Amino acid sequence: MKEKLLKIFAEHQGEFVSGEMISQQLGCSRTAIWKHIDELRKNGYQLESAPRKGYRLVSKGDGIHPHEVKVGLSTTRLGQELTYFDTTNSTQYTAHKLAQEGATEGHVVIANEQTAGKGRLGRDWYSRKGTSVSMSIILRPDLPPQKTPQLTLLTAVAVVRAIKNITGIQCDIKWPNDILLKGRKLVGILTEMQADPDRVHSVIIGIGMNANQRSDDFDPAVRELATSLAIEKDESVDRAQVISAVLNEFEQLYDLYLKEGFTTIRSLWEAYSLSIGTYIYARTMREVIYGYAKGITNDGVLLLEDEQGQEHKIYSADIEI
Ligand code: BTN
Repeated sequence: MKEKLLKIFAEHQGEFVSGEMISQQLGCSRTAIWKHIDELRKNGYQLESAPRKGYRLVSKGDGIHPHEVKVGLSTTRLGQELTYFDTTNSTQYTAHKLAQEGATEGHVVIANEQTAGKGRLGRDWYSRKGTSVSMSIILRPDLPPQKTPQLTLLTAVAVVRAIKNITGIQCDIKWPNDILLKGRKLVGILTEMQADPDRVHSVIIGIGMNANQRSDDFDPAVRELATSLAIEKDESVDRAQVISAVLNEFEQLYDLYLKEGFTTIRSLWEAYSLSIGTYIYARTMREVIYGYAKGITNDGVLLLEDEQGQEHKIYSADIEI
């Protein structure tokens, strides 16, 4: 209904549309229209209402518009169900809750602003309202829990390819899940799951992308370490288009993964990776290991050979190149 209402406003750009006309076209009561208008306002649209004239769309605001995401989708599952917030604490929390309530695979939660965004290793993830892509994808793969890191790597490949398609920008992956542009962080990925010891119930893939931030929008503490698509291109990007592209790429790779396993995804990931084939520092919870990054295993574990020739399996670490 909301989509139909927006279509009417798109057909009458800048003009008032009477409540009577809307109610005729949508086949619903004036009270129902009022509720939909109210919801659009909550989603960031600015709508003017005037007695005897009706409603006029003044501005689409700084939000991401779910119907614009949907228009760009070529998927059968990913993003077919979308939950959008102008503001929420974290799309991860909502996605977990929806998953517990039985949301189907491919349901995506998107926010224009997160007030308690979560990063890896218990860190905060902050992004200024109206600037970033914050999304969480609910998956229900029939996988043992130890294989879920493969989905993080798959996500990184999907995001790199989507960014290339939409903006022409080629970025790199830093193990396990940072996407960098010219050495600065562009995207972070957070994979969480609900599982029994032997069976995954749901995997929640969180993607935070710096899209339209300008340098001043970043916290001074990370300003030198982060970048955005807008900084690189010197123009804003359409976040709805970026989200659709990520979901399109994701579904293609995910279907390939479910059919053929991890091998192809692993080769693609290694081709985009900065860390493989070079000497790196891996800062784990216990120690810092310097060595040659030989590759990743089928479980997404990083293989590092130290200067004594000993091989280390790195499950979780911060990498310095
Ligand atoms: C990282 O630490 O690099 C991962 C950051 C992941 C941030 C995203 S934004 C969407 C989703 N919601 C969250 O609260 N976190 C993830």
